[in-house]
Amino acid sequence: MQDLNEDTITQSVIAQLANTSDPRLRLLLFSLVQHLHSFAREVQLSEGELMAAIQILTRIGQMCNEKRQEFILLSDTLGLSTLTMAMNNRKPVGCTEATVFGPFHVENAPAYTLGEDVANGAKGEPCFVSGVVRGLSGEPVAHARMEVWQADADGYYDVQYEGLEQSQARGVLSTDETGRYYFRSIVAEPYPIPHDGPVGEMLRATGRHPWRPAHLHFMIGKEGYQTLVTHVFRSGGKYLDSDAVFGVRSSLIADWLRHPPGTAPDGSQMDTAFYTLEYDFVLNPTTAGR
Ligand code: BEZ
Ligand code: FE
Repeated sequence: MQDLNEDTITQSVIAQLANTSDPRLRLLLFSLVQHLHSFAREVQLSEGELMAAIQILTRIGQMCNEKRQEFILLSDTLGLSTLTMAMNNRKPVGCTEATVFGPFHVENAPAYTLGEDVANGAKGEPCFVSGVVRGLSGEPVAHARMEVWQADADGYYDVQYEGLEQSQARGVLSTDETGRYYFRSIVAEPYPIPHDGPVGEMLRATGRHPWRPAHLHFMIGKEGYQTLVTHVFRSGGKYLDSDAVFGVRSSLIADWLRHPPGTAPDGSQMDTAFYTLEYDFVLNPTTAGR
């Protein structure tokens, strides 16, 4: 292993990986080295460019903390998250499509009972969300765990606010006996992904905008079904055709209907305009193959 040159280096590194005992890790590393070296050869990578890439990755790492995940933003904006999600969520026709998870899900969101207001003080016009969760054969999925999260009217998730004590515009619910769910929240609006770091620089350098179309995140789980991670997108809004993270599926676009002040779906009297969104989900039984 001496006098390695540009023709022999790749095979030499791969030979060094041959003793990796975990076969999956071996495959991943083999392929990674092969593709990285092919990339460097294809673009005739300069030493300055390699150092610049190392510095960018270093800054991306330094930007990460429990509230900011710049590596997820990098993966999302390069389409890697959507590619990986699509390969791992092939479902039979009729199932609700999955889309990207994003960096703003948090563990231990508060539990709500059906009908409650998950906004919990978040800024935005009121919105009443409802629908049914079914399995592929049309059976209602009772007591499914449904987690929802969204940005507020200013385009921020609760975790992006410094010092905010309580969770806002996120929560965990459970469908009823008939698979129905209903809760109150705020209307979804478009928002820009965080772009004050290296990923924002990349977007600007490539002439791209940081915006996502208005959406509401859902994660729905029930034993016997593949967990569904998805969003519902608001029809008619901006950025549906230029989502910064490539997440839009046309089957996930739905109407948020605006209503004048009056009686809301939960029977309450609204003295301001409000919205309703109705969307049904179809889960993939684990027996139907993944
Ligand atoms: C989100 O929808 O929350 C999101 C997804 C990808 C990147 C940034 C935000
Ligand atoms: Fe989002």
